[in-house]
Amino acid sequence: MQQITLIPGDGIGPEVTQSARDVVTAAGANVSWDTVSAGMQTGKQQGTPLPASVFESIAVTRLALKGPVQTPFGDDYPVCVERGTGPRIYPSVTIALRKELKLFVNVRPARNYPSVKSRFDNVDLLIFRENSEDLYAGRERMVDADTAEAIKIITRQGSERVARFAFDYMRKVGRRKLSVIHKSNVMKLTDGMFLRTAQEVARDYPEFEVNQRVVDALCMELVIRPEEFDCLLLPNLYGDIVSDLAAGLVGGLGVAPGANIGSDCAMFEAVHGSAPDIGGKDIANPMAMILSAVMLLRYIGEAQAADRVEQALTAVLRDKKHVTRDLGGSAGTREMTAAIIRNLSGSSPTNS
Ligand code: NAI
Repeated sequence: MQQITLIPGDGIGPEVTQSARDVVTAAGANVSWDTVSAGMQTGKQQGTPLPASVFESIAVTRLALKGPVQTPFGDDYPVCVERGTGPRIYPSVTIALRKELKLFVNVRPARNYPSVKSRFDNVDLLIFRENSEDLYAGRERMVDADTAEAIKIITRQGSERVARFAFDYMRKVGRRKLSVIHKSNVMKLTDGMFLRTAQEVARDYPEFEVNQRVVDALCMELVIRPEEFDCLLLPNLYGDIVSDLAAGLVGGLGVAPGANIGSDCAMFEAVHGSAPDIGGKDIANPMAMILSAVMLLRYIGEAQAADRVEQALTAVLRDKKHVTRDLGGSAGTREMTAAIIRNLSGSSPTNS
């Protein structure tokens, strides 16, 4: 049996993670859950938003399903992690987890689902975002009172690692084309290295079609003809921005799942935040968290359970009778979850 660390998080997190857990369990996946807490509420109760128990659990399970956590604005919310050598400070729980667990790639699919309103109906993108380097490497400082600087770090090792991951993943899931995204006409050394390294790695994967795009041109092309793209490989900053743009092409953050993957552990989470405005009201859309759990199931080889969940979710979306408000319905989180579970067992979603 595969153990999974479950982090409910803040706001709508406990509701949508409970929904994902119920659906995964009902789909017959051979998993068990170890629930640990992190986030703003945990910070109030335990004095730290990221207690050591989270790392202790993931050290055993190597796998986490994480709900969104709230990060208050301002400089007075450092997340301090003390593991191994000295304390390290991070701006949020999610960034602390990604860095400490060395989750070097963020995988985000963006595709159309039935009855989910969007501008396009033919989008099927798979985005690989390098998750540890670039302008997000944390080298930012005040030079003097009027000047701030941030250093963009791109390494050959980091670029090669994420490029190999992307090709291996594409092979596993049967994708065919990769676009390497960069701005090497301006950032000649850093983005130049990212692009060149990906092109070198591509020689080991001759079955794939590989092209490249400058990031600004890509953004324009994506909002005009997204159907021409298959998989995208991007450095951290462009990946952050373009993956939200891609979520916008298929109906917004409420339907966007994601995975953060490293060499020896992985963490799956919805792209959306903790939505404090609707937390605890039983109206959150659980779809992105359920789709994140589907990615987790595929990652651990539970393909049958993953297929069952995806088919049941698709049936509920098509039927439209038990979907949440953001999807044009009036169902609550629990009602939508129950409808998905009923579809797993083969009954009609209309039989309430
Ligand atoms: P948000 O994604 O939480 O909310 C934006 C809007 O979308 C809100 O109107 C919200 O009600 C709606 N929304 C989001 N998810 C929804 C869902 N599943 N169903 C229905 N409606 C949904 O973004 P926001 O407001 O910028 O961030 C709120 C908090 O979440 C912040 O403290 C932020 O730091 C945190 N956050 C955490 C993330 C994580 O843990 N991975 C990621 C993004 C934000």
